[in-house]
Amino acid sequence: MMKHDSWWRDAVIYQIYPRSFRDANGDGEGDLAGVIEGLPYLASLGIDAIWLSPIYRSPNNDGFYDVADPRDIDPLFGTLADAELLIKEAHAAGLKVIFDIIPNHFSSDHIWFQEAMRAAPGSAARARFHFYDGRGESGELTPNNWNSLFTGPAWTRLPDGQWYLHLFDSSQPDLNWDNPEVHADFEKTLRFWLDLGIDGFRIDVSHGLVKEDILVDHRDPDLLTKALRIDTTDVTAEQRADLLSDMPFFDRDGVHEIYREWRKIFNEYKDRMTVGEAFVYPTSRLANYVRPDELHQIFNFDFLLIEWDAAKIREAASRVISELATVGAPPTWALNNHDSPRLVSRLGSLAKARALALLTAALPGSLYIYQGEELGLPDGDMPVSARKDPIAIRSKGADLGRDGCRVPLPWSAHQPHFGFSSHTPWLPQMSSYGDYAIESEVSDPESSLNFYKKTLEIRKHHPALGGEGQITFLESEPGVLAFTRVPGLVVVANTTDGSIQMKLEAQSILHQSGHGVNYVADLLDLPAHTTVWLQR
Ligand code: BGC
Repeated sequence: MMKHDSWWRDAVIYQIYPRSFRDANGDGEGDLAGVIEGLPYLASLGIDAIWLSPIYRSPNNDGFYDVADPRDIDPLFGTLADAELLIKEAHAAGLKVIFDIIPNHFSSDHIWFQEAMRAAPGSAARARFHFYDGRGESGELTPNNWNSLFTGPAWTRLPDGQWYLHLFDSSQPDLNWDNPEVHADFEKTLRFWLDLGIDGFRIDVSHGLVKEDILVDHRDPDLLTKALRIDTTDVTAEQRADLLSDMPFFDRDGVHEIYREWRKIFNEYKDRMTVGEAFVYPTSRLANYVRPDELHQIFNFDFLLIEWDAAKIREAASRVISELATVGAPPTWALNNHDSPRLVSRLGSLAKARALALLTAALPGSLYIYQGEELGLPDGDMPVSARKDPIAIRSKGADLGRDGCRVPLPWSAHQPHFGFSSHTPWLPQMSSYGDYAIESEVSDPESSLNFYKKTLEIRKHHPALGGEGQITFLESEPGVLAFTRVPGLVVVANTTDGSIQMKLEAQSILHQSGHGVNYVADLLDLPAHTTVWLQR
């Protein structure tokens, strides 16, 4: 049964962090051949698509989000031929393939930046980036007071005295999107991969391309940096709202012109999609990115941060759904990604994580799952000296960064390195990871993996699930979230510490996140931290 006319509108998309998925060539780093080996597993999950974090040529100062050649594969991952094979084999397994694209910056190893460093101030080569003279008597002060999101100043000085802008690491110079050459080069990259057969792109920092008032100081750059960390507790909600609603380097109106251009390119191809990453405020501004002539989907950060609290979940879900409905775009839901603590670790409870996952899978729109989430995998921990994230390195460990959620997957409890690789992995795995090995979870009916599989199986076939059908929130007691989807589904989540009873009209229990749910004679008995799907 077709619930929609475009595959991506309610697709389940599985994010692969290739370096940590599976290592086929035994160097301790995941690769494309490893992803190909993993395709039967991926297909068995009941997902629609895989999204691969970047695999392009890169010196790897920021987990390959520092791209030195966007139209070639990094040798660590394999070759262009491997990428082609992956696309072909994934399609044969019934999976769409989405790649990352990183338009805010290049790596300082990119040929353009190498040229810019050799060229003179004011040259065409420097005009592809943001080069400026410094302030102060001999230009020794940065052109403005902006900070890098990875701590420290957002400017680095070349020996000839000019400074260049980098919102992230100093090896990630920001591109100047006022320059037509930048537009032309990205068109070439989009077409290169679309022609190779990929089904879409996840657009990194999609709200960041256009900068304004570059030579004007920000009123409070340090507080703004704190407000931009998605897991921060250092700023109040009011401060964050105030600072994020007006950022000179993010979410400027001019960015939409770029996506209108891109949409025309996508429309020349059949069935392709884009999903933007954008951290904007207020969240109603997300809808601007998915107007009918711009991107197809946009992430919202609400669920990456959401507390296990019925009222907060209801507020965020209904807000996102109604804001995106104004432009006819489907919502997307992600509880984990490669930049955020894993859900189980964040909530400190597998029961809560499963309950939130089941609730989320019943919302309208598209669902993103991050590798290992389906196993109930917790974050890894490691000494600062073993960390690779530039956030940990630049802050000298004051901020531990994002390595915890990037630790290589356990495939088997009994093999060295849990079957990820024959070699020591690039980030250390926890000794407890054997408990979450794919091989063990496959054969355990109670495992997270089998819970996710059943969830996705029902979601695929139930006429009320996925799709963009109506959702109606029901009145319920504090700590309980209840809603219906039509036709025929009631979802109830108990976020409190005790069991609850609720009078409800339904037929039977369809699926539950834990144990001990009872439904007899219109009375639902729901244990603490549990979600249930009921057939109506
Ligand atoms: C990516 C990060 C990356 C940053 C800079 C983000 O939004 O998801 O992993 O460090 O962009 O490219």
